[in-house]
Amino acid sequence: MIIFFFLTIAFQLGGGRGGFGGRGGGRGGSRGGVGGRGRGAPGRGGRGGRGGRGGMAAGGAKGGSKYVIEPHRHEGIFVARGKEDLLVTKNLVPGESVYGEKRISVDGPEGTKIEYRVWNPFRSKLAAAVLGGVDHLHVAPGKKVLYLGAASGTSVSHVADVVGPQGAVYAVEFSHRSGRDLINMAKKRTNVVPIIEDARHPHKYRMLVPMVDVIFADVAQPDQARIITLNAHHFLKNNGHIVISIKASCIDSTVDAATVFAREVKKLQEERVKPQEQLTLEPYERDHAVVVGRYVRNK
Ligand SMILES: C[S@@+](CC[C@H](N)C(=O)[O-])C[C@H]1O[C@@H](n2cnc3c(N)ncnc32)[C@H](O)[C@@H]1O
Repeated sequence: MIIFFFLTIAFQLGGGRGGFGGRGGGRGGSRGGVGGRGRGAPGRGGRGGRGGRGGMAAGGAKGGSKYVIEPHRHEGIFVARGKEDLLVTKNLVPGESVYGEKRISVDGPEGTKIEYRVWNPFRSKLAAAVLGGVDHLHVAPGKKVLYLGAASGTSVSHVADVVGPQGAVYAVEFSHRSGRDLINMAKKRTNVVPIIEDARHPHKYRMLVPMVDVIFADVAQPDQARIITLNAHHFLKNNGHIVISIKASCIDSTVDAATVFAREVKKLQEERVKPQEQLTLEPYERDHAVVVGRYVRNK
């Protein structure tokens, strides 16, 4: 039996799996790399099943290095095993980078090529959460994701890769400057709907957004719990999930980060969110936590 090696003992030293509560962040790992190897679930397909072998770096990832692509524990995400291990997503628009990220091309079936894009945890809180060992990401192939705080769309583009052509990303950003890049990115990634609006006013984009499976929020605002739950009340399915990034200093810089995280979780609970997981994003981001919760629309 072939056993795949997934993430990462090194990144999971900080706490137990599965429960809700604080978890220490990861340690070690090279910039953008995946870090040490842990035990993975067997039986998710053999080498060359979902991934490919013998890749060459197209966009210059260690120019000319060989990579073997393996599926990550989280569906729709992959690990490129090479000299250094890299978290990658399957490029929806092969041949193009979105923000200068490295691309890795590997042999697919019948002489085809499959291209992956390196997902840097120092530039994306979702990637940091994956490498931090989040148990359930809820962003997966076929899912509809409402993404609040899309900025110029760098992380959004990876979410679009993960959900794939059967899924969709509704990406809300109120800065017109960032919004221009977001719109340009969405011209090629047709499963992204860019929405240049203030997420405090979800009624303004209600015609564009259906009921979604998950809300990911990275708005870094003092009133973010209210913004997120307001959007959940509008658009999140019963038993859908929220995944939020909390930057403690953006909410209250006068108390310690753990206090801020606990207060934010309480605000979410008051609005029908059942917290399920919490982890810090060390070493990729300081004083950040990601909280995952389930939304109970119908009492
Ligand atoms: C921390 S950045 C997001 C980074 C992005 N998620 C990424 O990984 O590339 C926060 C973004 O949220 C946007 N933002 C903040 N408040 C917002 C609001 N009320 N409505 C829409 N966007 C907002 C900011 O303009 C900024 O681009």
